[in-house]
Amino acid sequence: MRDVKMIDIFQHRIAQKYLNRSGMAHAIAVAYHAFHLAKEKNVDVDNAAKAGFLHDIGHYSWYRDGKWDYDLYRQNDIHAIKGAERAHKLLIRLGENPIKAKEIALAILFHTDSFLPGGEVVRTPLQTIIKLADEKDEEPGGLHHYRKIDSERAFKMLQQLDNQIDDWISKKS
Ligand SMILES: [Fe+2]
Repeated sequence: MRDVKMIDIFQHRIAQKYLNRSGMAHAIAVAYHAFHLAKEKNVDVDNAAKAGFLHDIGHYSWYRDGKWDYDLYRQNDIHAIKGAERAHKLLIRLGENPIKAKEIALAILFHTDSFLPGGEVVRTPLQTIIKLADEKDEEPGGLHHYRKIDSERAFKMLQQLDNQIDDWISKKS
């Protein structure tokens, strides 16, 4: 039995606020990719789905004169750091196991190397999965952040993912 489900995260106001900013459709797509990759690689599917879902929760909007400013973003972005912290706080509040919350937070921290001066990280399998899952859903010019999904469909997709996670865990145990 998992302590926290995908829909518990989805329904929390903090997740709603930040995931709608960085793109709910992208978050769900990455959660699904991460789940499937984790199944293939024999990694904890629940951690993968949660880290995939929350990986961009730390995003800020870097706008100048009403338009997205990529240079400003590159210069100032710390979304991986911010996201790791926000996701950890949110998961703990929801009652997540602290060991899992830490693993998920670290996978979010290392999902990109945009903030690292050397750009080289040795990643755990879970951290690699979140990076790959994010790249699978990337569109040129950051368009993946703007894809829309209505709330009802988002809820249903996450409920479905919860069922798939539960099925996989019960099959493995
Ligand atoms: Fe992303």
